[in-house]
Amino acid sequence: MDATSSTGQQDGKDLAYQPGFGNQHSTEAVPGALPVGRNAPQRAPFGLYAEQLSGTAFTEPRARNRRSWLYRIRPSAAHPTFRRIPNGALRSAPFQEVEPDPNRLRWGPLPVPDTPTDFVQGLVTVGGNGDVLRREGIGIHWYAANRSMERRVFSSSDGEFLIVPQRGALLLHTELGLLRAEPGHVALVPRGVRFRVELLETAAAGYVCENYGQPFQLPDLGPIGANGLANARDFLAPVAAYEDREEDTEVVNKFGGHLWAAVYDHSPLDVVAWHGNHVPYLYDLHRFNVLGSISYDHPDPSIFTVLTSPSDTPGLAGADFVVFAPRWLVGEDTFRPPYFHRNVMSEFMGLIEGAYDAKAEGFVPGGASLHNMMSAHGPDRATFERASSAELRPQKVDDGLAFMFETRWPIVPTARALGAVHRQEDYDKVWEGLGRNFRP
Ligand SMILES: [Fe+2]
Repeated sequence: MDATSSTGQQDGKDLAYQPGFGNQHSTEAVPGALPVGRNAPQRAPFGLYAEQLSGTAFTEPRARNRRSWLYRIRPSAAHPTFRRIPNGALRSAPFQEVEPDPNRLRWGPLPVPDTPTDFVQGLVTVGGNGDVLRREGIGIHWYAANRSMERRVFSSSDGEFLIVPQRGALLLHTELGLLRAEPGHVALVPRGVRFRVELLETAAAGYVCENYGQPFQLPDLGPIGANGLANARDFLAPVAAYEDREEDTEVVNKFGGHLWAAVYDHSPLDVVAWHGNHVPYLYDLHRFNVLGSISYDHPDPSIFTVLTSPSDTPGLAGADFVVFAPRWLVGEDTFRPPYFHRNVMSEFMGLIEGAYDAKAEGFVPGGASLHNMMSAHGPDRATFERASSAELRPQKVDDGLAFMFETRWPIVPTARALGAVHRQEDYDKVWEGLGRNFRP
């Protein structure tokens, strides 16, 4: 431990974590800092301030209730007035810059910036749905950054941030501790939790699902049973780690779709101990236990759901996070790639590495596609022709890692996303040449 931090500086490769999803974790960076037997003793240990951070209403059912108790050097309440700062390319719901667009959209990677840009400055919103002030819907962002956040921390009151790194490892310094997220991992920072993003490489890029709705949870497994898909034990929460820094720190808060900032005279990442279940977490997508058909047909992609944010309608997700991880295809007399379909749900896809089995080309790592409500999509012509005539031996699909943010409402793009130089205006052409084969 150095003079100003309980963690020292590091690349995060040997960080300690607490395993489990939704657990009531307990952790202290200084032995004895966590009160025993009560949350708010008359005097918290070592002169710390006790503070509850609620991610759900006090009265939500116990199985859904999320809150953590933080024991910190300074109380969060002691801060100067927040002032509006520019939003950059960050946008929020309701999305009304352009009319909802029924076309299938696709983009190449967001260019890495050529001016100094940190994670917050590098957020570029693709689109979304719902309404931040009603805590419903999602915002979808890219990020591309080339420097760490220094003396600057961020939090979103509007939603939780599910961060999907595509390029460059990140060290997330959160109020509750550190997470090292690299391509192939996802990291979630809950609503209201402050964090700063340190780049562990010269450039970083990826995707964010900002979930305004109910916190992501693990999907029910039904007849699958007690195990499978994303297993709870593979989620990692941080251990307490704090910064004791008396230096000016800009605290940026996303609230109601806009950015506000205040300059504190200390780092607010000063939580010495905490307990609870409103916590950041990390998940390695390679741990996903892929289940699928061992007889025929491609299952509906909901079988690949990692996390789901439920709505008030049973089975209807505000947002699902879905991964297309390496897997075997063994279906007999089956068109094995994802089938042609039109879906009431809206689908935003990204590619972390490699290739995706429904698109032969054009869908590249860092790129994205948007197939909105009822838009017709599926394999491109080259994939259709190959898969329709392939010999159906058992086949390992292990050359890529794609994911999807799927949501109950249409995704309205931003003007910037529609006009982006990296948009592929000719996307419709991938389905050209799928001519008639009908021979009665
Ligand atoms: Fe689809």
